[in-house]
Amino acid sequence: MTVNWSANSWRNHTALQMPEYQDQAELDRVTAELSSYPLLVSAGEARTLKQKLGDVSRGEAFLLQGGDCAETFADFSSDLIRDTFRVMLQMAVVLTYGARKPVVKVGRMAGQFAKPRSAPTEKQGEIELPSYRGDIINELAFTPEARRPDPNKMLEAYLHAAATLNLLRAFAMGGYSNLKHVSDWNLDFARDERYSAMAEKVSDAIQFMDACGVTPDTTARLRTTDYYTSHEALLLPYEEALTRVDSTTGDTLAGSAHMLWIGDRTRQPDGAHVEYLRGVLNPIGIKCGPSMSSEDLKKLLTTLNPHNEAGRITLIARFGAGKVEEHLPRLIDTVKAEGANVVWCCDPMHGNTIKADNGYKTRPFDAILQEIREFVDCCQAREVYPGGVHLEMTGSNVTECTGGLQALSDADLSSRYHTACDPRLNASQALEVAFLVAEELVGG
Ligand code: PEP
Ligand code: CO
Repeated sequence: MTVNWSANSWRNHTALQMPEYQDQAELDRVTAELSSYPLLVSAGEARTLKQKLGDVSRGEAFLLQGGDCAETFADFSSDLIRDTFRVMLQMAVVLTYGARKPVVKVGRMAGQFAKPRSAPTEKQGEIELPSYRGDIINELAFTPEARRPDPNKMLEAYLHAAATLNLLRAFAMGGYSNLKHVSDWNLDFARDERYSAMAEKVSDAIQFMDACGVTPDTTARLRTTDYYTSHEALLLPYEEALTRVDSTTGDTLAGSAHMLWIGDRTRQPDGAHVEYLRGVLNPIGIKCGPSMSSEDLKKLLTTLNPHNEAGRITLIARFGAGKVEEHLPRLIDTVKAEGANVVWCCDPMHGNTIKADNGYKTRPFDAILQEIREFVDCCQAREVYPGGVHLEMTGSNVTECTGGLQALSDADLSSRYHTACDPRLNASQALEVAFLVAEELVGG
């Protein structure tokens, strides 16, 4: 048990980025109801993921974390869930081939509903309303009614998360994860000469195993997969309501997802979000932006991982292309000086957001790739293992990030720009990242 901690001790700390609910009685009623609901994940699963991330921290596996910036209640269908799951599996196969290591797959799925915002309000013309904070809090439409934080949305979010997780578990256990199907690329890039050679090698390796009798029919590991869920632990009343004590060990579990992360805007060492997360057994991600100081990182490591457990902490660097050398070395030095066990992961999305001339928020594919390269180079130069990537991506053919093999331009953005928040890599761009990272990992 964690000293002087309870599921609601975060309430004694400053909680940034929290909505102002107007009706306290309604909020209390909703959180009481949520507290009686079943957990979405088990303590055993969270511990297993922590062990696997421990493998990543020792350089024995690779982490692939990806999914929507913000899931929405509207984009809620089997096809969308399946497509993102499928692309992540394909990416994992490519990365496994490149790294010659198992890939730990963690979706930004089944609960990624709450968003931190740079401003508490949004102004359109003369009208100023609360910012959209994700479907678990309010609605995107620019009306006073839609933007009012509504606690009932937590119940809706729970049900959406439960149904999404249910389908993900079915896909992970059923035929969808069959390695033979996963390598049916059928995407543009697999025909592109830059990638077809590696795609063929992966397919050859699978056929070789098949010929040796190591087939999905004989080997369950090739038929099923492990897939975990994660989201930003932002909306603390929701997280608190889904917190439970594990009856076998007495440890406390955040029951909303396997892994939770703390955003770059809410990682104050004495803040409410850190206070909540220090007491739960789940693996924890910490977003590290340019303002992360060595001092703060040291405090966070001590507070969140006092026993230096491997797999407990994943540091997710998100500095922006061209800025990695300026910021990552001091964090690596701090971790080394502390002797801390961490996973080093690169989020090449959040430091590379720009506004296109036509007003769309976008991310250039080349900048995303450049940041990953800088991250890998910086880690390798300092002899730490570049353990993973964290991507905003979808399995759909959206047009939100520019570049990639389809060479999407600013003018293309309007055709299928569907994100509720930040621009995501589409299926082809996401897979292309996996191929390029795989090449990087084998030193190609
Ligand atoms: C996010 O991951 O969607 C996000 C808001 O990231 P960050 O906290 O790194 O800005
Ligand atoms: Co985002």
